[in-house]
Amino acid sequence: MTELRPVTVITGASAGIGVELARVFAREGHALALVARREDRLHALADALAAAGKARPLVIAADLAAPDAVRKIADALRAQGAEPQYMVNNAGFGLVGLADMRPREDELAMIDLNVRALTDLSLAFADSLARHKGGVLNVGSVAGFLPAPGMAVYYATKAYVISFSEALHAELKPRGVRVTVLCPGPVPTEFAEVAGLKKNSAPSLLTVSPERVAEEGYRGLMRGRRIVVPGLANKLITKIVPLVPRSLLLRAAGSRQARRRAAQGT
Ligand SMILES: NC(=O)c1ccc[n+]([C@@H]2O[C@H](COP(=O)([O-])OP(=O)(O)OC[C@H]3O[C@@H](n4cnc5c(N)ncnc54)[C@H](OP(=O)(O)O)[C@@H]3O)[C@@H](O)[C@H]2O)c1
Repeated sequence: MTELRPVTVITGASAGIGVELARVFAREGHALALVARREDRLHALADALAAAGKARPLVIAADLAAPDAVRKIADALRAQGAEPQYMVNNAGFGLVGLADMRPREDELAMIDLNVRALTDLSLAFADSLARHKGGVLNVGSVAGFLPAPGMAVYYATKAYVISFSEALHAELKPRGVRVTVLCPGPVPTEFAEVAGLKKNSAPSLLTVSPERVAEEGYRGLMRGRRIVVPGLANKLITKIVPLVPRSLLLRAAGSRQARRRAAQGT
């Protein structure tokens, strides 16, 4: 059997945190496969990395919300003689608004991407991750530590990502596979615009750059950390939130989201 060469697959590599993760993995000498829907952006990033002397990444244009996305990625990798050593599940989006007032298909598409595709991709390549002593880096969020009326489905998807990834960390450890969940607070990317916010209202104390988020995620994965929360203030939030009564949290998170909607005039 011909040996397949190991690559790091990064989803959502056409923007924001995913671009920076691609830069960090490439800098550290990993061969890459970049996945997202906007193929032109993936090619532009692949060209830039190649021009900087790195191996040219494979480009796989795929809508991860589609049911056959994982098969498509597996086929594309095999056709190029590659298989995953690291699986970076970064693609994701959020939507602001009361869940029952929003189009149902948009809320369910969020679950398809943030939960279903992430789960499928975390599990589908376990054998090749083990063969290459690699791992999984799943992008969660500080949002996963609490419920938030006004962004209910997004916060719930991220709670799933944290719970699933922490358990998978324990399950795959005996096979030599690292699993890390990266939980950023606010990061200036296209996320806010996609979520329906005209301006980013995140407090600057909590905001961390996408470059730093990617660096910390990479380092945490390589060190076998279970969870990484970039930024001291965000770390503090994740320690304090479990101690606060749920009713208080719901009130505080709900009024923050309501203020955000009011500021947008929505
Ligand atoms: N920014 C923040 O404040 C923040 C905070 C905490 C956690 N996060 C998490 O960080 C991750 C990256 O977000 P970001 O801030 O970098 O946002 P972003 O700039 O909007 O980038 C999102 C990426 O996901 C990809 N994507 C979206 N839908 C997709 C689909 N159906 N199929 C394939 N790819 C898809 C997008 O590519 P295409 O549109 O080209 O497909 C893009 O590359 C997400 O999981 C997000 O939840 C973000």
